[in-house]
Amino acid sequence: MTFETLLFEKKIGYAIITLNRPDKLNALNNQLFSDLSQAVSLIADDTEIHAAIITGTGSKAFAAGADIAELHEQDDLSGVEFSKIGQRVFDAIEHLGKPVIAAVNGFALGGGCELALSCHIRFAAANAKFGQPEVNLGILPGYGGTQRLSRIVGSAKSAELILSGMIITAENAEKIGLVNSVHELSYLMEFAEKFVQTIVSKAPLAVYAALQSIVASKELSPEEGMNFESRKFGEICGTDDFKEGTKAFLEKRTAVFSGK
Ligand code: COA
Repeated sequence: MTFETLLFEKKIGYAIITLNRPDKLNALNNQLFSDLSQAVSLIADDTEIHAAIITGTGSKAFAAGADIAELHEQDDLSGVEFSKIGQRVFDAIEHLGKPVIAAVNGFALGGGCELALSCHIRFAAANAKFGQPEVNLGILPGYGGTQRLSRIVGSAKSAELILSGMIITAENAEKIGLVNSVHELSYLMEFAEKFVQTIVSKAPLAVYAALQSIVASKELSPEEGMNFESRKFGEICGTDDFKEGTKAFLEKRTAVFSGK
């Protein structure tokens, strides 16, 4: 499958999406959102794909935000839908049900930072920079940034970043829990792929159920969350892979998972 604004690569067990508007630092325009939405659906529907990595082309930018030329055209009515378009795609990533890892290879600003926030895990290159500089443009984050950043780093840190528009280094992003770990740019994709290969070597239905429970924890009350976890636990106890995993342990051999 080919896309105008991104590269889609299917590997064994996982996919890599590379945002590909290098002349605009991978800024997120309408076409990119449409392409990204289709790529996410492709991953959801493909039973051979159990995880995904999202990164940016080149060594400078993951994504430098919403496309400011398109943003400039918005008014108080169209702005709502402009925001919703990004929110819908990023919600689809968060609720994909399969792990999505952001490999942040450079600037992750505005919508670029919000895209990374919608992924379940974030690895960053040492040269990466993070920020929500929307207030510099007279606007606020509109692709879920005010909600996700606050949940991930806490409301005080989120307010510090969003209200000042400040841009922070990957090292500082790691300190506040915005990224999981920082790597040399030349090693970032190798690290991300090795990590994803580890995930896809596990029982996929168990991985999906664990991820869905983690995502649900952000949206459910503690009691509902526990009930959700128990339901998932019960579902997985009915799978072939659960029987195989536990049997293999008892027989002191490596489990061979079938994904059933
Ligand atoms: N939307 C549209 N185009 C963008 C863009 C964005 N968010 N970010 C960068 N670009 C374009 C620039 O306009 C430029 O295009 P041109 O060569 O046709 O003039 C090209 O990408 C390269 O960017 P440039 O600004 O020349 O690179 P730089 O290295 O000097 O600066 C940044 C890099 C990221 C600091 C700077 O591009 C920037 O501040 N971008 C906007 C970040 C932002 O506010 N994002 C939030 C948007 S809501």
